[in-house]
Amino acid sequence: MNFKDYIRDIPDFPKPGIIFKDITPLLATPKVFKEVIDTMADKVKDSDFDTIIVPEARGFLFGSALAYKLGKKLVPVRKPGKLPYDIVEVSYSLEYGETRIQMHKDALSKGEKVLIVDDVLATGGTIKAIETLVKKLDAEVSGILCLIELSFLNPREKLSNIKVDSILIY
Ligand code: PRP
Repeated sequence: MNFKDYIRDIPDFPKPGIIFKDITPLLATPKVFKEVIDTMADKVKDSDFDTIIVPEARGFLFGSALAYKLGKKLVPVRKPGKLPYDIVEVSYSLEYGETRIQMHKDALSKGEKVLIVDDVLATGGTIKAIETLVKKLDAEVSGILCLIELSFLNPREKLSNIKVDSILIY
């Protein structure tokens, strides 16, 4: 099964010059989505982590399925104004714009080991920002797992100190 057959390119979305990787065909094909989650689980089967941390919105899709499968704690990272309790926050630049993300300040304990899971690793800005949030709570990023890595944007340059796994490289 070639997972790339279930991901389509949408040119000039959300802005001119960006080719958006649309994962909805993959999500709409149950046997493929299941195989993707099983493959992601297999990638991290020997990794040491307590918690899966996921950025809104598409990270939720993969990270929550993985947390269910592996029996791990799940922590959401959200866009501003969505989390109801006290937060920690960081600003960062995205492939297409500037944004902020937030996490509950009691989401992680000191020394807790987390795996960051997302659909796409593009510039690496989102994951780098999550690493900053994790460090603010004195927890530790033990790895990064993404479905899609856009290697031509060199995300690993920003993340040189962390183990990065991706399922599909473009
Ligand atoms: C996309 C994607 C990653 C991030 C990758 O999310 O789901 O989280 O961008 O880009 P980066 O490596 O350059 O930071 P987006 O902010 O579009 O949010 P969405 O999932 O809510 O659409």
